[in-house]
Amino acid sequence: MEKLLRNFFLFLSKNRALTKLAKRYGLRFGAARFVAGESIKQAVNVIKELNNKGLVVTIDYLGEFVDNEKEANEMADHCVLAVEAIGRERINSQLSLKMTSMGLDLSEEIVMKNMKKILEAAKKNDVFVTIDMEDYSRCGKTIEIFKKLKSEYDNLGTVIQAYLYRTEKDMEELNQYSPNLRLVKGAYKESPEVAFPIKKDVDDNFKKIIKMHLLNGNYTAVATHDDEMIEYTKQLVEEHNIPFDQFEFQMLYGIREERQLELYKEGYKMRVYVPYGTDWYGYFMRRLAERPANIAFVVKGVVSK
Ligand code: FDA
Repeated sequence: MEKLLRNFFLFLSKNRALTKLAKRYGLRFGAARFVAGESIKQAVNVIKELNNKGLVVTIDYLGEFVDNEKEANEMADHCVLAVEAIGRERINSQLSLKMTSMGLDLSEEIVMKNMKKILEAAKKNDVFVTIDMEDYSRCGKTIEIFKKLKSEYDNLGTVIQAYLYRTEKDMEELNQYSPNLRLVKGAYKESPEVAFPIKKDVDDNFKKIIKMHLLNGNYTAVATHDDEMIEYTKQLVEEHNIPFDQFEFQMLYGIREERQLELYKEGYKMRVYVPYGTDWYGYFMRRLAERPANIAFVVKGVVSK
């Protein structure tokens, strides 16, 4: 049943008509639990509240189905505005973005132009930028773009997904860049030809790459809501005397908020991924797919309208 619901929400997340419709009607159905608002002003207020509690942030301007240069340029402009707001408001936040939003499906030239514009603004405002990882078909291209940009910009990191078979090799190759990587299990529906179909194998590979990256001396963001992975990281760090400024935990806005605060109080750096923008629908559906128990929020959202 859970698998069925997961596939259903992932299917809904890819629906262009619903994505467009949702944009017109504003945050609905409990989406505000996972999305910090539609404007940068609302997002800044949420970040200030999180910072006041001791949590640091990475902000993400939501955008789905970017399929023309004008839209990709507009997405990049929003990212520049976000970076400038971080600098101006003196909030503790990084920026996360997706290569498809920057024009990955159009041309590498458009992506590079947009990324350089953002990275220059980010450098000026002392903001670190992470390239999120999307589905398998974009993984290779994303890593290649990351490598090209990383040789020019130090304030850049990316994401590695534990469910892909190619991941260990990617990490070995990336090691020469001493990259700051966010490690995740992986959120997309992939074929067993490219990704571990069994959760236990994904978890084992997740632990393997956490260890590999930390012991290589690289900065590691362990992005998970899973206590088993969090405990594994804590033990590893203790066993190998890894300094607390070499790693952090990350979770999504609206998920396990008490656990986020607990980790901060235990002395760990805890970063919250805060999405905002009018294009909330696809992100919201992917969160429901991850944990169909979250449907309770949708029901409450509908009832309270
Ligand atoms: P998983 O979903 O396997 O859950 C394991 C356990 O965690 C559950 O059994 C439960 O105990 C606990 N748990 C999970 N959710 C809970 C909840 N709501 N309440 C209580 N307990 C809960 N993916 C990707 O492909 N590309 C990317 O760029 C990113 N970026 C990213 C950034 C950040 C900050 C995070 C946290 C995640 C991502 N992801 C991602 C998503 C990631 O790949 C993955 O899909 C989700 O984090 C879900 O996997 P978990 O590791 O959280 O555990």
